[in-house]
Amino acid sequence: MRTKVAAILLLLLSGLWLLPVFLGQSDAVEIDAEALPPEVRKVFIHSCIPCHSSSAPLPRIGNLEPFRYFLVRRKQMATKRLDFDQWAQLNSNKQELRRQKIRKAIEKDFMPPLDFRFFNHALSDSDRAILLKWSRP
Ligand code: HEC
Repeated sequence: MRTKVAAILLLLLSGLWLLPVFLGQSDAVEIDAEALPPEVRKVFIHSCIPCHSSSAPLPRIGNLEPFRYFLVRRKQMATKRLDFDQWAQLNSNKQELRRQKIRKAIEKDFMPPLDFRFFNHALSDSDRAILLKWSRP
């Protein structure tokens, strides 16, 4: 009994439970949207895709519960509004509509969500400039 408790304690203390975070799928994601200019795509991949593409893997922390649970739900809400997986199939009106929504989200500093910015996904000034220029009506 005592050794069991000791073993569990050792496991917890050793940080082994964090392993799935490092061994799981990486943060690397791609975007299948040929219609987007490369510099714009790059910004989306860096700051938006983890939530706004149904096929992109969750950020690494999503390999761990309870983060997984919240990330999956959040991603469902995000892709309902904007899913880059579908971008290439949208007609030009719909693309334009989403472009204006993206513009508003950037202008109002609404996206990416504040907490996500801590994980090195914030938009730099030049990222913002790229998105604003691309989405200008
Ligand atoms: C951490 C996850 C996450 C990231 C990263 C993220 N979003 Fe979102 N986004 C959401 C969620 C969740 C919603 C839905 C919000 C709601 O329904 O209130 C949303 C909604 C939106 C909407 C829809 C707003 C509307 O009025 O319909 C746009 C546009 C948007 N995001 C753009 C972006 C852009 C551009 C980026 C990158 C710069 C980005 N998002 C990054 C989670 C995210």
